Amino acid sequence: MDNGTGANHKRVFPADFAWGVSTSAYQVEGNNFNNQWAAWEKAGRIKSRDQVGLACDWWRNAEQDFDLAKTLGVNALRLSLEWSRIEPAEGVWNGEALYRYREMLQALRSRGIRPFVTIHHFTNPLWFEAKGAFASPESVRLFERFARRVVEYLGDLCDNWSTFNEPNVYTGLGYFLGEFPPGKKGRFMQAAHVTRNLCLAHAAVYRTIHELQPNAQVGWAQHYVVFKPRNPESAIDRWIAAFIHRRFNNNFAESIRTGRAPFPLDRFGHDLSEVKGTCDYVGINYYSRLRMGFEPGSPKTLFFQLSVPPHKPQGDSGIDVPYGEAYPEGLRHAVEHFMDFNKPLYILENGVPDRADRIRPWVLESSVQQLQTLLTEGADLRGYFHWTLTDNFEWNEGWHLRFGLIELDPETQIRRLRPSAHVYSRLIQSMNGHANKIGSSGDRVIG
Ligand code: BGC
Repeated sequence: MDNGTGANHKRVFPADFAWGVSTSAYQVEGNNFNNQWAAWEKAGRIKSRDQVGLACDWWRNAEQDFDLAKTLGVNALRLSLEWSRIEPAEGVWNGEALYRYREMLQALRSRGIRPFVTIHHFTNPLWFEAKGAFASPESVRLFERFARRVVEYLGDLCDNWSTFNEPNVYTGLGYFLGEFPPGKKGRFMQAAHVTRNLCLAHAAVYRTIHELQPNAQVGWAQHYVVFKPRNPESAIDRWIAAFIHRRFNNNFAESIRTGRAPFPLDRFGHDLSEVKGTCDYVGINYYSRLRMGFEPGSPKTLFFQLSVPPHKPQGDSGIDVPYGEAYPEGLRHAVEHFMDFNKPLYILENGVPDRADRIRPWVLESSVQQLQTLLTEGADLRGYFHWTLTDNFEWNEGWHLRFGLIELDPETQIRRLRPSAHVYSRLIQSMNGHANKIGSSGDRVIG
């Protein structure tokens, strides 16, 4: 059956395939003041100078976006928990915050939408950050205690957990490039220790969740980038692209797969055998392809430079770096890269910054086509989550980069469906084999 998307997905995608949208607490909830990202914003470190403010106003009314998600026909939604709300001071628990998360998960389930919950998506409570966050060995115990509390309280409403979102981005941008808090640059060894603690914390939480909820599915989300040499003729560009690929795409993941300590700690006798195999699935976040080149005059970026050839499709550019080439074929690279785990795979994020919705429809259709082919070839893919439902606060870029299927005016909180919302909805329908009720024009306004 062809529903105008030009493809028949019905026979290929399993009936319980998760068709979802992906979000994170800090980016959507609003009024979070007690974490290191709020402090980063206060210190003037958001490049756009924007303020997160109410974000998408989820703390008060996530339900309005859940209603929209339901109209699109998604059957899954990924959200995260804000640790600084649940444990505002060390060992102090906020029952109201936990209750609000219960309400949200119930609201999703009552709409026929499966919640996928991420326990840590970049933000740390201020008290935890003050203790050194994941650079401190104590972080493992503190994070496990927090996770135990939330799984005890919410476990009956959720059976798919991610421990960490993108540990490789957390360490790469926080300890190498200084783009994310704590803003450290070139801290090679410290980053390795942070990765080690993240692995240990992940493994501890993996075991805790299984102790409390034996049938839960527990994994994490790994960011994957396709790296290419800027100049394929240049040996140094080739070396840089291959080096960054190994270090970035394998960071954290390799330790979970093999039990080896993160590079270079593995060369100094460290071992992580207790983390080996601690995942029931691998979550992949994939967005783009980047060219890597050697740049002797650029110590700030550790002597390499990211670029996108001008003739390649790309969404909107970041304030001072390109976001990357939109390259849907890269989904295949990512899926093949993580096949060695022999575990189910979820695409937990995929999308493009594209305020005017110029290329998002193409990205969506081509990405789903990639998944269709991969499924036909036998890949064990269980879900696809588009980043994101409603425009949200894009970390360092603030409101500058817009990833939503739904456009948001953060001032008025008015929402407007982009044409892509309809494209995604139709793609999901064609899999389910029935027509969706959503209208056909791209300009429904909700405020
Ligand atoms: C992060 C999201 C972010 C998205 C788009 C991912 O790396 O998990 O929080 O908004 O990319 O840049």
